[in-house]
Amino acid sequence: MFGRRSNSEVQTRPGAAPAAAAAAVKAPEPKAATAKPSSAPAARPPEPVQQRRHSEEYYDVKTTVFNALIDTIDLTQLAKLDGQAAREEIRDIVGEIIQVKNVVMSISEQEELLEDICNDVLGYGPLEPLLARDDIADIMVNGANTTYIEVSGKVQKTGVHFADNQQLMNICQRIVSQVGRRVDEASPICDARLPDGSRVNVIAPPLAIDGPALTIRKFKKDRLTLDQLQRYGSISEQAKAVLQVIGRVRCNILISGGTGSGKTTLLNCMTSCIENDERIITCEDSAELQLQQPHVVRLETRPPNLEGEGEITMRDLVKNCLRMRPERIIVGEVRGPEAFDLLQAMNTGHDGSMGTLHANSPREAISRLESMIMMGGYNLPVRTIREMVAGSIDIIIQASRLRDGSRKVTHITEVVGMEGDTVTLQNLIVFEITGDDPNGRLVGRHRSTGIARPAFWERAQYYKEEGRLAEALSAAELVDANGNPLGDN
Ligand SMILES: Nc1ncnc2c1ncn2[C@@H]1O[C@H](COP(=O)(O)OP(=O)(O)OP(=O)(O)O)[C@@H](O)[C@H]1O
Ligand SMILES: [Mg+2]
Repeated sequence: MFGRRSNSEVQTRPGAAPAAAAAAVKAPEPKAATAKPSSAPAARPPEPVQQRRHSEEYYDVKTTVFNALIDTIDLTQLAKLDGQAAREEIRDIVGEIIQVKNVVMSISEQEELLEDICNDVLGYGPLEPLLARDDIADIMVNGANTTYIEVSGKVQKTGVHFADNQQLMNICQRIVSQVGRRVDEASPICDARLPDGSRVNVIAPPLAIDGPALTIRKFKKDRLTLDQLQRYGSISEQAKAVLQVIGRVRCNILISGGTGSGKTTLLNCMTSCIENDERIITCEDSAELQLQQPHVVRLETRPPNLEGEGEITMRDLVKNCLRMRPERIIVGEVRGPEAFDLLQAMNTGHDGSMGTLHANSPREAISRLESMIMMGGYNLPVRTIREMVAGSIDIIIQASRLRDGSRKVTHITEVVGMEGDTVTLQNLIVFEITGDDPNGRLVGRHRSTGIARPAFWERAQYYKEEGRLAEALSAAELVDANGNPLGDN
């Protein structure tokens, strides 16, 4: 059989497990410690989030079988097999071990044991069942015994837990080593990506006091589209049409929102308005965008190595991409001095560039941009910075996660210019909350503020999109400047 060290009788040799195996397994421990479940049994969809706890006996058997398996197989060879073949290999050996050791187990218990062991050897242990679920947005592990997930906008606690913080740390290590990084006491903060594209952050002790904290933003296989956002009620049909026009006519766009409000998702949706013949360059800290166009160059920042060298910042990327003949520059998240370079790019012929930024309102987005530039040490007068902002950004789209967990586009706002020392903004569409339904869901509407001819009207005319724009804006119900409905209701 492939991957075996020997065909001799299977023996348990505690303590002989190779390092990689030790990463996955709970080492043989005194009985009292084994009482703590070491892995997450099948908490798969659509099962409830609660994890089934096995008996102490089950964990004892698992430890014994696991150690015997580790002594039997050659993990380096196993790693060369594809997932399915490796599972089959493990299945065969585990079956033999169970026979040799005379373990009495029902078929279903055996299946569970096998699944658990495969997850520990090949994957991310107790996280596997959560990673397999498509309905989870975030997985948040706060030390070995506490794991939360976000499902349908709501954060809920799961029964998933790890044998101990060491097992959790080993899994974190395995995740980050796949992208050539390391996490330990010496470098306790690390960003990484799972092979499926999920974004990962690890912060380890001593910085995380109660054990490693692992946060995973699950990658959605089926990326959300503007049509889906409309179906979910995140935007109205008219707001969608306005966004499509904005993307198509090459407005410079800033997507603003709080953490997890849906900024990246919205940015991804907006990129769908870009034509196939445009050269697009994306700059991200962790590549999350999934552009559908053929002509895309994807760039990713790099953290410094252990000696503190080799860092490539977002600013380096944005500056460099100006030399790459971009037609559109997309910045995953603007959070520092690269704001200046992005605005310059927007000002100098790279119309239709886009970026996201953390802010709670369009007005706050403007002042965040301003302070990023000021803190970048450019030594420019505030007024010059504001003029630059007003001259570069055309549209701010505000994303929000509301108190019922739903995500909405709450503002589509134009940057129209300067009045005195202030950047003037003009809302085109706002989301107005009208109440709660009996299930605790917020009810509301996207309304046009009554601006019939936005500042980018001429641009829309140039691209022959003014008809669609006028129609969408007039179809959205009118509200006054304070968001109150004008007219009959
Ligand atoms: N309109 C929406 N309706 C339902 N789910 C959404 C919507 N927008 C985003 N999501 C989901 O919410 C999660 C967070 O979205 P996203 O990554 O876009 O947020 P973000 O604001 O970029 O977060 P961060 O600040 O962490 O970068 C994702 O799982 C995404 O699929
Ligand atoms: Mg994001």
